[in-house]
Amino acid sequence: MSPQIVSASPRALAQAAAVLSNGGLVAIPTETVYGLAANAFDARAVARIYEAKRRPFFDPLIVHIGSARDLGLVAASIPKVARRLIDELWPGPLTLVLPKAERLPSIVTSGLATVAVRFPSHPVALELIRRVEVPLAAPSANTFGRLSPTRAAHVADDLGDAVDLIVDGGSTKHGVESTIIDVSTDTPTILRHGAISAEVLRSLIGPVAERTHSTSQPEAPGQLSSHYAPRIPLHLVDGGAVVIGENDAYLAFSHHPEDGGWGLVEVLSPSGDLREAASRLFDVLHVLERSDVSAIYAELVPDEGIGRAINDRLRRAASGAPQE
Ligand code: TXA
Ligand code: MG
Repeated sequence: MSPQIVSASPRALAQAAAVLSNGGLVAIPTETVYGLAANAFDARAVARIYEAKRRPFFDPLIVHIGSARDLGLVAASIPKVARRLIDELWPGPLTLVLPKAERLPSIVTSGLATVAVRFPSHPVALELIRRVEVPLAAPSANTFGRLSPTRAAHVADDLGDAVDLIVDGGSTKHGVESTIIDVSTDTPTILRHGAISAEVLRSLIGPVAERTHSTSQPEAPGQLSSHYAPRIPLHLVDGGAVVIGENDAYLAFSHHPEDGGWGLVEVLSPSGDLREAASRLFDVLHVLERSDVSAIYAELVPDEGIGRAINDRLRRAASGAPQE
């Protein structure tokens, strides 16, 4: 059975708010990707998120607030660097890791002493949070280990009736997830590259460390290597020779490959615009997954700005970790 998809009208938002108030799960559009939301203060509802996503309980969720003033509901303290980022970049696709407020159920943070918080800019997400009058815990609305959804239909196809309601807000603007920065320690550290670039963060707060992703290290929050695995094998084309397969797809950044013979070619941004490429990335991967190609050969994009987030997702997809 498919869950109900409703377009974001005032009536639908009232319905969604009622579902959330009663401990239900609602998929909501944000400016990055769709989220699977529950009342962050309802531990049973939050447990249902993990079940619906088949996500391990040790992988914590992001809490979404509807105003910067509500930060005090979920975070115990706000370091000075965080203030600057909040003033400049919220609402928007930046998630801050801060010391957790005692009263937030520990299932939201997988027992960690920190909480990841985001103040989204999407009008539908904001309107809903404001109607429910509680922060919403919301990971990306996909099964653990699968592609993040950038359209309501992606959520319906993937999660089915594990979700009570899907609010359709069209396709998402950025197309990759928020940037996560840990500001709970002495040196602010980027835990996940995303829609806000490292360059922008450094211009605002100075030195910022980066936690590098490794497939051999024990898995830590934000670093699970199977996170963006598509259903068909993805290989990176890194300058080396590749064997062109007529059953294979080629995923290019801005130019069609010179060699013909690929079964399917997708160009992320013919004008070479990294923002456009990011906004189309998951959408194109969803399309390729549904096509009958047997493998995807993908180019990396320029490693700057939001291009870092794109390359990070492509590398993770190529790491071939087993899907959950
Ligand atoms: O753009 C986004 O951030 C989307 C939309 C829906 O807001 N959400 C999203 O959530 O991408 P999710 O659950 O797919 O990714 C959240 C990441 C996970 O990798 C998790 O490990 C990390 O945030 N995380 C959550 N709490 C954390 C914490 N206290 N410390 C470190 N990492 C944390
Ligand atoms: Mg996710």
